[in-house]
Amino acid sequence: MTLSADATDSETFVTDFADAVLTGLSCKAKNIPCRFLYDARGSELFEDITRLDEYYPTRTEIGLLGAHGNEIAKRAGKSCAVVEFGSGSSRKTHILLEHMKSATAYVPIDIDDAVLHEAAARLEQEFPDIPIYPVHADFSQGIELPQEIGDAPRLGFFPGSTIGNFEMDAAADFLASAGRLLGKGSSLLIGADLQKDLDILLPAYDDAAGVTADFTLNLIHRINRELAGNLDVECFAHKVIYNDRVGRIEIYIESLCDQDAEIMGRQFSFDVGDHIHVENSHKYTLPQFRELAREAGWETDQVWSDADELFSLHFLSNP
Ligand code: AVJ
Repeated sequence: MTLSADATDSETFVTDFADAVLTGLSCKAKNIPCRFLYDARGSELFEDITRLDEYYPTRTEIGLLGAHGNEIAKRAGKSCAVVEFGSGSSRKTHILLEHMKSATAYVPIDIDDAVLHEAAARLEQEFPDIPIYPVHADFSQGIELPQEIGDAPRLGFFPGSTIGNFEMDAAADFLASAGRLLGKGSSLLIGADLQKDLDILLPAYDDAAGVTADFTLNLIHRINRELAGNLDVECFAHKVIYNDRVGRIEIYIESLCDQDAEIMGRQFSFDVGDHIHVENSHKYTLPQFRELAREAGWETDQVWSDADELFSLHFLSNP
């Protein structure tokens, strides 16, 4: 990737952020798409979330990857190219690649350029025999795989239940387009968070130390930083509900007072109790997720879950 391509990319992202904020805050149901939570500071805070006691998904999935890594590698085949969607810090990739040392390539795709290249540099040292081709892109938009990976079979890797960010329709669309991108004969290893007791679920998104609140409210800081905003950060709070009807966690930024603010020279007002919807995190049952994959053209070859059925890892194949 050349420097000039990077510069163009990040300009596009900035405009995109401005558009998303100005449009989203002008809607009746105020909203900002969740990908904007993950700027450099947001990605850092998300890393902190994954280490919280309350946040069970990361450690549970890491446990599953370690326990079933050999079987995963066997199913994927020895010489395949691993393509990761939303790679972030690539912490889980390390565990996967430990079991797949003869992978022909690793292609991390992430929206955060700095995190992407840091992770690529680290993995390059740890796995010198696996060529790495980072792709700086929003994986929910159309992307192309680097030509260098040739036509080796592909294993898509989409851990973390990031798919839970998508509405059900969009999740099916994503799975279908991942199938087209990876091609016939490819496979996809994907993490899906499971429905469970609210006593476990809610604290995972509203931790005692307030790290998740910081993560959510970083979006207000980001608007102030990047879009010449003057929102009063103290007047906003992180708010989490479980939407039982749809089976998902919903995260909002709630205004704690009436306030007028300016963003990029435009006026916005927030009434006390106003909500900005910033993230969804869908929770599935095992049959639901299998059905979602099937609708998108994938066959479920194997599902692994922990003893408490907190989290699941699905090995799908594209016939
Ligand atoms: C990155 C989408 C998997 O839904 O658990 C965690 C995001 N937001 N805590 C999740 C998140 C607040 C996370 N995903």
